Amino acid sequence: MSKFYVTTPIYYVNDRPHIGHAYTTVLADVLARYHRSLGDDTFFLTGTDEHGQKVEKAAAKRGMDNLAHCDETVVRFQELWKKLGITNDRFIRTTQDFHVKVVQQVLQNLFDRGEIYKAEYTGWYCVGDERFFTEKDLVDGKCPECGREVQAIKESNYFFRMSKYQDWLIDYIKTHPDFILPAFRANETLGFLKKPLNDLCISRPKSRLAWGIELPFDKDYVCYVWFDALLNYVSGVGYLQDDKTFARWWPATCELIGKDILTTHSVYWPTMLKAMDLPMPKTIFAHGWWLTGNAKMSKSLGNVVNPMDMIAKCGVDAFRYFLLAEMSPGNDANFSEETFTARYNSDLANDLGNLLSRVNKLTIRATGGAVPCAGALEDCDKEFLAEIESASATMRTSLGEMKLDQGINAVLSAVRAGNRYLEKCAPWALAKEGKTERLHTVLHTAAEVLRRVAVLLSPVMPEKMAALGEAMGIHADELGAISALDTPFDWSNRTMKEIEPLFPRIVEEKKEEAPAKKEKKAEKTIPEMPLITIEDFSRVVLKTAKIVSAEAIPDAEKLLKLQLDLGGESRQIVAGIAKSYAPETLIGKTIVVVANLQKAVLRGVESEGMLLAAKHGKELKLVTVDGEIPAGCRIG
Ligand code: ME8
Ligand code: MG
Repeated sequence: MSKFYVTTPIYYVNDRPHIGHAYTTVLADVLARYHRSLGDDTFFLTGTDEHGQKVEKAAAKRGMDNLAHCDETVVRFQELWKKLGITNDRFIRTTQDFHVKVVQQVLQNLFDRGEIYKAEYTGWYCVGDERFFTEKDLVDGKCPECGREVQAIKESNYFFRMSKYQDWLIDYIKTHPDFILPAFRANETLGFLKKPLNDLCISRPKSRLAWGIELPFDKDYVCYVWFDALLNYVSGVGYLQDDKTFARWWPATCELIGKDILTTHSVYWPTMLKAMDLPMPKTIFAHGWWLTGNAKMSKSLGNVVNPMDMIAKCGVDAFRYFLLAEMSPGNDANFSEETFTARYNSDLANDLGNLLSRVNKLTIRATGGAVPCAGALEDCDKEFLAEIESASATMRTSLGEMKLDQGINAVLSAVRAGNRYLEKCAPWALAKEGKTERLHTVLHTAAEVLRRVAVLLSPVMPEKMAALGEAMGIHADELGAISALDTPFDWSNRTMKEIEPLFPRIVEEKKEEAPAKKEKKAEKTIPEMPLITIEDFSRVVLKTAKIVSAEAIPDAEKLLKLQLDLGGESRQIVAGIAKSYAPETLIGKTIVVVANLQKAVLRGVESEGMLLAAKHGKELKLVTVDGEIPAGCRIG
């Protein structure tokens, strides 16, 4: 069993949480749930950062006592996390006694060992970022971080000897490629470390800022809010309180942050830990920003999306799904209601919801509900099962690489394969023709794939996947373990129950039809042909490709292995066209392929794309272009 300790930043209690905060917390939650599901010993810490000028100002603005303001505001975070199904093991507030004591003990210890000293300091202060800068740090006389005006300040303060760890830190980052991720953030930190590192001012005179933890060796000062806040990662797991607990969890496996707080986490925090003689977290992962338009979503800019509104509109799980599926963790992503609705309708309502509802209805029609046993598997059943196996493998890799969006997309492509599988096997026709054994095999296979989808997506959508399981007679507890996914599942005595759509389509108001008409339409369309939006379509990259070579695949009578030229780029794809085309007749043809399909392995052969062909009964005709055109042209 491995250990997994994940943290989020502790958020300022100066305002309401927005989707940026929700994102980091949901990401941590999904990671924690996946690791629990893999059987890892897991601890998940989140909380709030309650000291410092930002919070003091917010309290003053409301004419409230600082702590009373915190007590009131913290509830918004706690309630939101509850609503979002966040499974943190602890919620830390930096105003809690135990944390205050740890911070003071660390300060005293560092002071006693000469790691903290007093000096007079002239500097430039950015109120917004609560950070001091030297003259040479400034950009055009403004804050190098946010570009706002800075104030000149001369005062006596206490300093942490951060500069002496500069060479050590550079070396540590270079020799620990997993320490700061994505790798380009490590390079950013190394870039920052090219300039001489200053010592860190860790105090604020009470005359200027009283809301903080008092320095144990000078009661005229409080501790700098970042020095206090960063220590939550150790105080929250027993540091200087309970050695056994601390040894169990520290060092953290994954400290999640937004890229806005990279320097504090990749420079201040490691040097603090080094001075305290503690090991470094395994990974500090900085994700990108949620943007609205092209600007960062932030309280100061006033362009925030309130997660509560989104939840009210679409439910918790769809919101969690969107956050995770839409953002590749290292990069920025854009939030708009349109992208949300488009993804919801295509992935959840059409692909997943539709697959469940078809399998559910067809099974009830065929057996009255009992999930039937499978007979002998045919190629297409095996291929479909291989899709979900490969999705499961992708999900596990994507977890380790913090590319959850890829894991989720792989599961969704297995779901799409499921809808194609039903089209191809046409269980409704099998029922009509009385081919019961084959019908049972198809329904069983589809149910088994859906079960695995539910296991793989449970950490992202715990409630909806529990409902999906219920609909197939599977209890939520049985969806828990990804580690057990590959062991055979006991399908005996499982009964499908009639269900409401799992993800009812979101109908944009302007497009809404009269309800009566809508119902009629829904009734007639099983199997349904779901409509897609232009955005859905634009996610598919179609290109012209020239066939360079083609060969049969041993033991796969329908498949051919093709080498393609996509305009300077070569690709290998596996296509099910062997019954309609002899390999040698294909060479030199310009065909149309889906160029951005996830890799798949068919009969042990890797396929990086899919060709388009028209189908009539068993006959297939390749889609080609009307006249000469180079390979690699985009189609659309
Ligand atoms: O910085 N997109 O707290 P904070 C994505 N108290 N994530 C976002 C985001 C956005 N638009 N906006 C905020 C602080 N976040 C300190 C942290 S830790 C020892 C102290 C997320 O309330 C992201 O995780 O400003 C970012 O790092 C964090 O919220 C900042 O929250
Ligand atoms: Mg901030």
